[in-house]
Amino acid sequence: MPAGRRSGSEGGVVKHRFDPSGPLRGTIAAPADKSLSHRAALLAAMASDPVRVTGYLDAADTNSTLAAVQALGALVERGEVLTIRGTGLRAAAPAAAAIDVGNAGTLMRLLPGWLAGQPAGSWTLDGDASIRRRPVDRIAEPLRRMGAQIEAREGRFAPFTVTGSSLEAIEYPLPVASAQIKSCVLLAGLLAVGETTVIEPEPSRDHTERLLLRCGVTVSRDGPRISVCPQDELELRDLHVPGDPSSAAFHVAAAVLVPGSRIVVEGMAANWTRVGFLRILERMGAVLVGELEPAGAPLSPDEPVTELDVAHGPLAGTTVDAAEVPLAIDELPLVALLGCFAEGETIVRGAEELRVKETDRIATVVDGLRGLGADIEATADGFVVQGTGGLRGGTIASHGDHRLAMLGAVAGLASREGVEVDGIEAAAVSYPGFEADLASLGGR
Ligand code: S3P
Repeated sequence: MPAGRRSGSEGGVVKHRFDPSGPLRGTIAAPADKSLSHRAALLAAMASDPVRVTGYLDAADTNSTLAAVQALGALVERGEVLTIRGTGLRAAAPAAAAIDVGNAGTLMRLLPGWLAGQPAGSWTLDGDASIRRRPVDRIAEPLRRMGAQIEAREGRFAPFTVTGSSLEAIEYPLPVASAQIKSCVLLAGLLAVGETTVIEPEPSRDHTERLLLRCGVTVSRDGPRISVCPQDELELRDLHVPGDPSSAAFHVAAAVLVPGSRIVVEGMAANWTRVGFLRILERMGAVLVGELEPAGAPLSPDEPVTELDVAHGPLAGTTVDAAEVPLAIDELPLVALLGCFAEGETIVRGAEELRVKETDRIATVVDGLRGLGADIEATADGFVVQGTGGLRGGTIASHGDHRLAMLGAVAGLASREGVEVDGIEAAAVSYPGFEADLASLGGR
Protein backbone atom coordinates (compact mmCIF):
# COMPACT_ATOMS: atom_id res chain seq x y z
CA MET A 1 0.00 0.00 0.00
CA PRO A 2 1.40 3.42 -0.85
CA ALA A 3 2.49 5.73 1.93
CA GLY A 4 -0.17 8.28 1.02
CA ARG A 5 -3.64 8.44 -0.49
CA ARG A 6 -5.23 11.20 -2.52
CA SER A 7 -8.48 12.17 -0.90
CA GLY A 8 -9.78 14.96 -3.11
CA SER A 9 -9.29 18.34 -4.64
CA GLU A 10 -11.13 21.64 -4.30
CA GLY A 11 -10.33 24.78 -6.28
CA GLY A 12 -6.84 23.50 -7.14
CA VAL A 13 -6.07 22.70 -3.48
CA VAL A 14 -5.41 18.96 -3.29
CA LYS A 15 -6.10 17.07 -0.07
CA HIS A 16 -3.95 14.03 0.50
CA ARG A 17 -4.11 11.63 3.43
CA PHE A 18 -0.94 10.05 4.84
CA ASP A 19 -1.72 7.05 7.02
CA PRO A 20 0.44 5.66 9.83
CA SER A 21 3.13 3.69 8.06
CA GLY A 22 4.93 0.40 8.48
CA PRO A 23 8.73 0.40 8.14
CA LEU A 24 10.17 2.46 5.29
CA ARG A 25 12.74 0.51 3.31
CA GLY A 26 14.77 0.98 0.17
CA THR A 27 17.05 3.30 -1.72
CA ILE A 28 16.12 6.65 -3.10
CA ALA A 29 17.94 9.19 -5.26
CA ALA A 30 17.81 12.64 -3.65
CA PRO A 31 16.01 15.01 -6.06
CA ALA A 32 18.15 17.71 -7.66
CA ASP A 33 19.25 20.59 -5.49
CA LYS A 34 17.09 23.70 -5.78
CA SER A 35 19.69 26.22 -4.60
CA LEU A 36 22.29 24.88 -7.00
CA SER A 37 19.84 24.66 -9.91
CA HIS A 38 18.91 28.35 -9.55
CA ARG A 39 22.57 29.32 -9.45
CA ALA A 40 23.51 27.04 -12.35
CA ALA A 41 20.88 28.69 -14.59
CA LEU A 42 21.78 32.22 -13.55
CA LEU A 43 25.54 31.80 -13.95
CA ALA A 44 25.10 29.94 -17.24
CA ALA A 45 23.00 32.88 -18.48
CA MET A 46 25.85 35.22 -17.49
CA ALA A 47 28.52 33.04 -19.12
CA SER A 48 30.01 33.56 -22.55
CA ASP A 49 29.87 29.98 -23.86
CA PRO A 50 27.06 27.42 -23.81
CA VAL A 51 26.80 25.49 -20.55
CA ARG A 52 25.48 21.93 -20.35
CA VAL A 53 23.82 21.16 -17.01
CA THR A 54 22.91 17.63 -15.96
CA GLY A 55 20.57 16.91 -13.06
CA TYR A 56 18.83 20.32 -13.20
CA LEU A 57 15.75 20.36 -10.95
CA ASP A 58 12.53 20.26 -12.96
CA ALA A 59 10.26 21.99 -10.43
CA ALA A 60 8.13 25.12 -10.34
CA ASP A 61 10.77 27.30 -8.65
CA THR A 62 13.67 26.39 -10.88
CA ASN A 63 11.49 26.52 -14.00
CA SER A 64 10.78 30.15 -13.05
CA THR A 65 14.53 30.74 -13.23
CA LEU A 66 14.79 29.19 -16.68
CA ALA A 67 11.91 31.36 -17.89
CA ALA A 68 13.58 34.44 -16.36
CA VAL A 69 16.93 33.86 -18.09
CA GLN A 70 15.08 33.26 -21.37
CA ALA A 71 13.30 36.60 -20.93
CA LEU A 72 16.76 38.13 -20.53
CA GLY A 73 17.99 36.71 -23.83
CA ALA A 74 19.50 33.34 -22.91
CA LEU A 75 18.58 30.34 -25.04
CA VAL A 76 17.44 27.28 -23.12
CA GLU A 77 17.29 23.80 -24.66
CA ARG A 78 15.67 21.26 -22.40
CA GLY A 79 16.29 17.54 -22.61
CA GLU A 80 18.10 15.00 -20.51
CA VAL A 81 20.89 17.55 -20.55
CA LEU A 82 19.89 21.18 -20.19
CA THR A 83 21.84 23.53 -22.45
CA ILE A 84 21.89 27.22 -21.66
CA ARG A 85 23.41 29.66 -24.14
CA GLY A 86 23.94 32.80 -22.13
CA THR A 87 24.12 36.43 -23.11
CA GLY A 88 27.49 37.08 -21.48
CA LEU A 89 28.07 38.99 -18.27
CA ARG A 90 27.19 42.47 -19.49
CA ALA A 91 24.48 41.87 -22.06
CA ALA A 92 21.18 40.90 -20.40
CA ALA A 93 18.41 41.81 -22.84
CA PRO A 94 15.65 44.27 -21.99
CA ALA A 95 12.60 42.27 -20.92
CA ALA A 96 9.32 43.08 -22.67
CA ALA A 97 7.25 42.48 -19.52
CA ALA A 98 7.81 42.03 -15.79
CA ILE A 99 10.00 39.02 -15.03
CA ASP A 100 7.82 36.52 -13.18
CA VAL A 101 9.78 34.92 -10.33
CA GLY A 102 6.72 32.85 -9.31
CA ASN A 103 7.26 31.57 -5.75
CA ALA A 104 11.09 31.64 -5.92
CA GLY A 105 12.75 33.81 -3.28
CA THR A 106 16.22 32.78 -4.42
CA LEU A 107 15.53 33.97 -7.96
CA MET A 108 14.01 37.22 -6.69
CA ARG A 109 17.03 37.96 -4.46
CA LEU A 110 19.89 36.79 -6.72
CA LEU A 111 18.89 38.02 -10.18
CA PRO A 112 18.91 41.75 -9.25
CA GLY A 113 22.62 41.43 -8.40
CA TRP A 114 23.32 40.71 -12.06
CA LEU A 115 20.86 43.25 -13.46
CA ALA A 116 22.02 46.09 -11.18
CA GLY A 117 25.38 46.32 -12.93
CA GLN A 118 24.06 46.81 -16.47
CA PRO A 119 23.77 50.55 -17.13
CA ALA A 120 21.67 50.16 -20.26
CA GLY A 121 18.67 48.47 -18.65
CA SER A 122 15.72 48.57 -16.34
CA TRP A 123 13.80 45.45 -15.29
CA THR A 124 10.70 44.83 -13.18
CA LEU A 125 10.39 41.66 -11.10
CA ASP A 126 7.14 40.31 -9.70
CA GLY A 127 5.79 37.00 -8.45
CA ASP A 128 2.95 35.20 -6.70
CA ALA A 129 1.03 36.28 -3.58
CA SER A 130 3.59 34.67 -1.25
CA ILE A 131 6.57 36.32 -2.95
CA ARG A 132 4.82 39.70 -2.72
CA ARG A 133 4.93 39.37 1.09
CA ARG A 134 8.69 38.69 1.21
CA PRO A 135 11.08 41.61 1.73
CA VAL A 136 13.47 42.82 -0.97
CA ASP A 137 14.85 45.83 0.93
CA ARG A 138 17.54 43.44 2.19
CA ILE A 139 19.03 43.36 -1.33
CA ALA A 140 17.92 46.84 -2.43
CA GLU A 141 19.95 48.46 0.33
CA PRO A 142 23.41 47.11 -0.63
CA LEU A 143 22.68 47.41 -4.36
CA ARG A 144 21.74 51.08 -3.91
CA ARG A 145 24.96 51.62 -1.99
CA MET A 146 26.80 50.21 -5.01
CA GLY A 147 25.03 52.69 -7.29
CA ALA A 148 21.95 50.86 -8.58
CA GLN A 149 18.48 52.32 -8.51
CA ILE A 150 15.69 50.17 -7.04
CA GLU A 151 12.04 51.14 -6.70
CA ALA A 152 9.92 48.72 -4.67
CA ARG A 153 6.26 48.63 -3.66
CA GLU A 154 6.01 50.18 -0.17
CA GLY A 155 9.80 50.47 -0.34
CA ARG A 156 10.34 46.76 0.31
CA PHE A 157 8.12 44.38 -1.67
CA ALA A 158 7.60 43.07 -5.21
CA PRO A 159 6.83 44.26 -7.78
CA PHE A 160 10.08 46.18 -7.87
CA THR A 161 12.21 47.71 -10.61
CA VAL A 162 15.98 47.48 -10.89
CA THR A 163 17.63 50.15 -12.99
CA GLY A 164 21.21 49.21 -13.78
CA SER A 165 24.15 51.51 -13.33
CA SER A 166 27.94 51.61 -13.19
CA LEU A 167 28.57 50.04 -9.82
CA GLU A 168 31.20 50.75 -7.20
CA ALA A 169 32.48 47.97 -4.94
CA ILE A 170 31.42 48.01 -1.29
CA GLU A 171 32.35 46.31 1.93
CA TYR A 172 29.05 45.07 3.30
CA PRO A 173 28.42 43.53 6.73
CA LEU A 174 25.30 41.40 6.17
CA PRO A 175 22.55 42.38 8.63
CA VAL A 176 21.33 38.75 8.62
CA ALA A 177 23.09 35.49 7.80
CA SER A 178 21.43 35.01 4.42
CA ALA A 179 22.99 33.27 1.44
CA GLN A 180 20.55 35.08 -0.82
CA ILE A 181 21.75 38.55 0.21
CA LYS A 182 25.39 37.42 0.17
CA SER A 183 24.99 35.96 -3.32
CA CYS A 184 23.24 39.06 -4.66
CA VAL A 185 26.04 41.36 -3.51
CA LEU A 186 28.74 39.00 -4.82
CA LEU A 187 27.05 38.85 -8.26
CA ALA A 188 26.86 42.65 -8.36
CA GLY A 189 30.52 42.69 -7.33
CA LEU A 190 31.44 40.96 -10.60
CA LEU A 191 30.33 44.13 -12.39
CA ALA A 192 31.57 46.75 -9.91
CA VAL A 193 34.74 48.78 -9.89
CA GLY A 194 37.01 47.52 -7.12
CA GLU A 195 36.92 44.54 -4.78
CA THR A 196 33.53 43.80 -3.20
CA THR A 197 33.48 42.20 0.26
CA VAL A 198 30.60 40.79 2.26
CA ILE A 199 30.99 39.99 5.95
CA GLU A 200 28.80 37.18 7.26
CA PRO A 201 27.52 37.24 10.87
CA GLU A 202 27.39 33.42 10.65
CA PRO A 203 28.30 31.08 7.77
CA SER A 204 25.50 30.37 5.29
CA ARG A 205 25.35 28.11 2.22
CA ASP A 206 28.33 28.80 -0.02
CA HIS A 207 27.18 27.50 -3.42
CA THR A 208 27.59 30.88 -5.12
CA GLU A 209 31.20 31.19 -3.96
CA ARG A 210 31.98 27.67 -5.19
CA LEU A 211 30.31 28.19 -8.54
CA LEU A 212 32.03 31.53 -9.06
CA LEU A 213 35.38 29.83 -8.43
CA ARG A 214 34.36 27.33 -11.06
CA CYS A 215 33.68 30.22 -13.46
CA GLY A 216 37.27 31.44 -13.09
CA VAL A 217 36.39 34.30 -10.71
CA THR A 218 38.84 35.26 -7.97
CA VAL A 219 36.87 34.58 -4.77
CA SER A 220 38.63 34.75 -1.46
CA ARG A 221 37.38 33.84 1.98
CA ASP A 222 39.07 35.04 5.12
CA GLY A 223 37.04 34.04 8.17
CA PRO A 224 33.67 35.80 7.78
CA ARG A 225 34.91 38.00 4.89
CA ILE A 226 34.20 36.91 1.31
CA SER A 227 35.53 39.02 -1.55
CA VAL A 228 35.20 38.99 -5.33
CA CYS A 229 36.99 40.96 -8.01
CA PRO A 230 35.32 42.41 -11.11
CA GLN A 231 35.24 40.17 -14.13
CA ASP A 232 35.19 40.56 -17.92
CA GLU A 233 33.48 37.25 -18.54
CA LEU A 234 32.47 34.01 -16.86
CA GLU A 235 33.92 30.78 -18.14
CA LEU A 236 31.62 28.07 -16.93
CA ARG A 237 32.11 24.55 -18.16
CA ASP A 238 29.55 21.76 -17.93
CA LEU A 239 28.22 21.04 -14.52
CA HIS A 240 26.18 18.51 -12.60
CA VAL A 241 23.61 19.37 -9.94
CA PRO A 242 23.77 16.92 -7.01
CA GLY A 243 20.82 15.85 -4.85
CA ASP A 244 19.18 18.29 -2.44
CA PRO A 245 19.79 17.67 1.27
CA SER A 246 16.78 19.85 2.12
CA SER A 247 14.43 17.68 0.05
CA ALA A 248 16.09 14.45 1.19
CA ALA A 249 15.62 15.63 4.79
CA PHE A 250 11.91 14.71 4.62
CA HIS A 251 12.71 11.06 3.84
CA VAL A 252 15.50 11.04 6.40
CA ALA A 253 13.13 12.32 9.09
CA ALA A 254 10.46 9.80 8.09
CA ALA A 255 12.97 6.94 8.38
CA VAL A 256 14.15 8.11 11.79
CA LEU A 257 10.57 8.44 13.07
CA VAL A 258 8.82 5.34 11.68
CA PRO A 259 9.77 2.22 13.70
CA GLY A 260 11.69 -0.46 11.82
CA SER A 261 12.74 1.85 8.97
CA ARG A 262 16.07 1.76 7.18
CA ILE A 263 16.67 3.71 3.98
CA VAL A 264 19.56 4.83 1.80
CA VAL A 265 19.62 8.24 0.11
CA GLU A 266 21.93 8.39 -2.90
CA GLY A 267 23.66 11.29 -4.63
CA MET A 268 23.01 13.87 -1.94
CA ALA A 269 25.09 17.05 -1.67
CA ALA A 270 27.22 16.84 1.48
CA ASN A 271 28.43 20.47 1.54
CA TRP A 272 29.06 21.41 5.20
CA THR A 273 26.91 24.55 4.85
CA ARG A 274 23.91 22.42 3.83
CA VAL A 275 23.89 19.51 6.25
CA GLY A 276 23.36 21.27 9.57
CA PHE A 277 20.09 19.36 9.92
CA LEU A 278 21.94 16.04 9.87
CA ARG A 279 24.29 17.27 12.60
CA ILE A 280 21.25 18.27 14.70
CA LEU A 281 19.68 14.87 14.07
CA GLU A 282 22.85 13.08 15.16
CA ARG A 283 22.92 15.17 18.31
CA MET A 284 19.34 14.04 18.99
CA GLY A 285 20.60 10.46 18.87
CA ALA A 286 19.87 9.34 15.30
CA VAL A 287 22.32 6.95 13.68
CA LEU A 288 23.31 8.18 10.23
CA VAL A 289 26.09 6.74 8.10
CA GLY A 290 27.51 8.89 5.31
CA GLU A 291 30.51 11.03 4.49
CA LEU A 292 29.64 14.64 5.17
CA GLU A 293 32.06 17.44 4.40
CA PRO A 294 34.00 18.35 7.57
CA ALA A 295 33.90 21.83 9.11
CA GLY A 296 36.61 24.22 7.98
CA ALA A 297 37.24 22.66 4.56
CA PRO A 298 38.93 25.16 2.21
CA LEU A 299 36.67 26.89 -0.33
CA SER A 300 36.55 24.63 -3.36
CA PRO A 301 34.81 24.80 -6.76
CA ASP A 302 33.34 21.34 -6.15
CA GLU A 303 30.25 20.16 -4.33
CA PRO A 304 30.87 16.99 -2.30
CA VAL A 305 28.28 14.23 -2.67
CA THR A 306 27.46 11.32 -0.38
CA GLU A 307 25.27 8.28 0.14
CA LEU A 308 23.41 8.37 3.43
CA ASP A 309 22.22 5.34 5.39
CA VAL A 310 19.46 6.16 7.90
CA ALA A 311 17.69 3.96 10.45
CA HIS A 312 14.88 4.43 12.96
CA GLY A 313 15.97 5.15 16.50
CA PRO A 314 15.01 6.94 19.71
CA LEU A 315 15.58 10.70 19.94
CA ALA A 316 16.44 13.14 22.69
CA GLY A 317 15.51 16.83 22.67
CA THR A 318 18.11 19.42 21.72
CA THR A 319 18.71 23.16 21.44
CA VAL A 320 19.44 24.81 18.10
CA ASP A 321 21.12 28.21 18.46
CA ALA A 322 21.55 31.15 16.08
CA ALA A 323 24.90 29.98 14.66
CA GLU A 324 23.36 26.71 13.50
CA VAL A 325 20.21 28.27 12.05
CA PRO A 326 21.50 29.30 8.57
CA LEU A 327 22.99 25.83 8.11
CA ALA A 328 19.61 24.15 8.65
CA ILE A 329 17.19 26.99 7.90
CA ASP A 330 14.88 25.07 5.55
CA GLU A 331 14.86 21.97 7.75
CA LEU A 332 13.86 23.68 11.02
CA PRO A 333 10.19 22.70 10.54
CA LEU A 334 11.39 19.08 10.63
CA VAL A 335 13.32 19.75 13.85
CA ALA A 336 9.99 20.80 15.37
CA LEU A 337 8.39 17.54 14.22
CA LEU A 338 11.28 15.43 15.50
CA GLY A 339 11.03 17.28 18.81
CA CYS A 340 7.48 15.96 19.23
CA PHE A 341 8.83 12.40 19.22
CA ALA A 342 11.97 13.10 21.29
CA GLU A 343 12.44 12.71 25.00
CA GLY A 344 12.52 16.13 26.70
CA GLU A 345 12.48 19.61 25.28
CA THR A 346 13.57 20.82 21.84
CA ILE A 347 14.29 24.52 21.44
CA VAL A 348 15.04 26.50 18.29
CA ARG A 349 16.15 30.11 18.81
CA GLY A 350 17.74 32.86 16.75
CA ALA A 351 15.54 31.77 13.83
CA GLU A 352 13.42 34.89 13.23
CA GLU A 353 14.29 34.54 9.53
CA LEU A 354 11.68 31.76 9.47
CA ARG A 355 9.06 34.49 9.62
CA VAL A 356 9.94 35.72 6.10
CA LYS A 357 10.00 32.39 4.27
CA GLU A 358 7.26 31.18 1.87
CA THR A 359 4.99 31.50 4.91
CA ASP A 360 5.75 32.74 8.42
CA ARG A 361 7.17 29.33 9.27
CA ILE A 362 7.19 29.95 13.01
CA ALA A 363 3.44 30.57 12.95
CA THR A 364 2.50 27.94 10.35
CA VAL A 365 4.66 25.17 11.83
CA VAL A 366 3.52 25.82 15.40
CA ASP A 367 -0.18 26.09 14.44
CA GLY A 368 0.08 23.14 12.06
CA LEU A 369 1.78 20.77 14.49
CA ARG A 370 -0.38 21.88 17.40
CA GLY A 371 -3.40 20.93 15.31
CA LEU A 372 -1.93 17.43 15.09
CA GLY A 373 -1.61 17.19 18.88
CA ALA A 374 1.90 18.60 19.44
CA ASP A 375 2.89 20.40 22.62
CA ILE A 376 4.64 23.33 20.93
CA GLU A 377 4.88 27.08 21.64
CA ALA A 378 6.02 29.84 19.31
CA THR A 379 8.60 32.35 20.50
CA ALA A 380 9.64 35.58 18.77
CA ASP A 381 12.63 33.84 17.17
CA GLY A 382 11.73 30.15 17.08
CA PHE A 383 9.77 27.57 19.03
CA VAL A 384 9.85 25.26 22.03
CA VAL A 385 8.55 21.69 21.75
CA GLN A 386 7.85 19.29 24.61
CA GLY A 387 8.43 15.75 23.42
CA THR A 388 5.53 13.44 24.14
CA GLY A 389 6.89 10.40 22.30
CA GLY A 390 4.41 10.66 19.43
CA LEU A 391 1.81 12.64 17.56
CA ARG A 392 -1.94 12.04 17.32
CA GLY A 393 -2.59 13.25 13.75
CA GLY A 394 -5.40 15.24 12.14
CA THR A 395 -5.39 17.84 9.37
CA ILE A 396 -2.70 20.34 8.42
CA ALA A 397 -2.88 23.10 5.81
CA SER A 398 0.16 23.75 3.61
CA HIS A 399 -0.82 27.41 3.00
CA GLY A 400 0.87 26.93 -0.38
CA ASP A 401 4.25 26.34 1.35
CA HIS A 402 6.07 23.35 -0.13
CA ARG A 403 8.00 22.50 3.02
CA LEU A 404 4.86 22.61 5.15
CA ALA A 405 3.11 20.23 2.74
CA MET A 406 5.97 17.71 3.00
CA LEU A 407 6.17 18.18 6.78
CA GLY A 408 2.51 17.16 7.03
CA ALA A 409 3.15 14.03 4.97
CA VAL A 410 6.02 12.87 7.19
CA ALA A 411 3.98 13.68 10.30
CA GLY A 412 1.20 11.47 8.93
CA LEU A 413 3.42 8.42 8.41
CA ALA A 414 4.77 8.71 11.96
CA SER A 415 1.46 9.63 13.65
CA ARG A 416 -1.04 7.40 15.47
CA GLU A 417 -4.11 8.38 13.41
CA GLY A 418 -2.75 9.71 10.11
CA VAL A 419 -2.65 13.23 8.69
CA GLU A 420 -4.61 14.85 5.91
CA VAL A 421 -2.51 17.47 4.13
CA ASP A 422 -4.65 20.24 2.72
CA GLY A 423 -2.67 21.57 -0.26
CA ILE A 424 -0.15 18.80 -0.96
CA GLU A 425 0.31 20.17 -4.52
CA ALA A 426 2.61 22.86 -3.04
CA ALA A 427 5.35 20.19 -2.75
CA ALA A 428 5.90 20.57 -6.51
CA VAL A 429 7.54 23.96 -5.91
CA SER A 430 10.74 22.13 -4.98
CA TYR A 431 10.00 18.40 -5.24
CA PRO A 432 7.41 17.29 -7.84
CA GLY A 433 8.06 13.55 -7.28
CA PHE A 434 7.78 13.76 -3.50
CA GLU A 435 4.68 11.62 -2.95
CA ALA A 436 5.82 8.97 -5.43
CA ASP A 437 9.28 8.78 -3.85
CA LEU A 438 7.81 8.46 -0.37
CA ALA A 439 5.47 5.75 -1.61
CA SER A 440 8.41 3.91 -3.25
CA LEU A 441 9.96 3.53 0.20
CA GLY A 442 6.90 1.52 1.17
CA GLY A 443 4.46 1.90 3.99
CA ARG A 444 1.88 -0.26 5.51
C1 S3P B 1 18.61 29.88 -0.21
C2 S3P B 1 18.92 30.49 0.98
C3 S3P B 1 18.05 30.47 2.15
C4 S3P B 1 17.01 29.37 2.05
C5 S3P B 1 16.35 29.31 0.70
C6 S3P B 1 17.39 29.09 -0.39
C7 S3P B 1 19.55 30.01 -1.33
O1 S3P B 1 17.41 31.72 2.25
O2 S3P B 1 16.02 29.51 3.04
O3 S3P B 1 15.41 28.26 0.64
O4 S3P B 1 19.44 29.24 -2.30
O5 S3P B 1 20.42 30.89 -1.25
P1 S3P B 1 18.14 32.94 3.00
O6 S3P B 1 19.43 33.15 2.35
O7 S3P B 1 17.26 34.14 2.83
O8 S3P B 1 18.24 32.51 4.42
